[in-house]
Amino acid sequence: MKFFLDTANLEEIRTVAAWGILDGVTTNPSLVSKESRPFKDLIAEISRIVPGPISVECVSTEAGAIIGEARELARIAANVVIKIPVGIEGLKATQSLARDGVKVNMTLVFSAGQALLAAKAGAAFVSSFIGRLDDLSQDGMELIEEIAAIYGNYDYATEIIVASIRHPRHVIEAALIGAHIATIPFAVMEKLVQHPLTDIGIAKFLKDWGKVKT
Ligand code: E4P
Repeated sequence: MKFFLDTANLEEIRTVAAWGILDGVTTNPSLVSKESRPFKDLIAEISRIVPGPISVECVSTEAGAIIGEARELARIAANVVIKIPVGIEGLKATQSLARDGVKVNMTLVFSAGQALLAAKAGAAFVSSFIGRLDDLSQDGMELIEEIAAIYGNYDYATEIIVASIRHPRHVIEAALIGAHIATIPFAVMEKLVQHPLTDIGIAKFLKDWGKVKT
């Protein structure tokens, strides 16, 4: 399973990149708005830190404008992936960009039907927001199961990004289903590493090591 970091914060990205387990980064307009650095500079810097895919979202709403914006964003760095919200204009833009070899991450996907359309349009990635579905008392992970089954039935190459992750259990369940990618907020990434029994175990081993004659 590939791990992306769901943030535009350079310190968080540098920290997790140093752990040696980071495969990519996803940003969105809300995440970018929290950072003070100019937008394109910020994306260029992220692209230098992480060699894997860096998703950057278009804010245009009409296909022609989305395509123009996407081409401009793609020029920032070779590993930039264009995030486009699912919808009729987004699908038109995606199929055109995909035909020209531009990688698209179709985002804000909340149904298996949307995910199927994204794959048919040629999106390289589909981002399904499970936490936001859970927030509405729906089962976000059920959506991942459906998408995985449908893509498997037809051998779509579109990679499933499990997004809007709220806790480590989301990552585990996504991995059990076989989703290709989890895009994980920094706080959840930290929680994935930690376990109180590990801390207690280390403290005990170190204490006992103090009694060993060396
Ligand atoms: C995905 O690419 C999005 O950036 C993200 O996962 C959205 O998560 P949220 O529901 O926590 O905003």
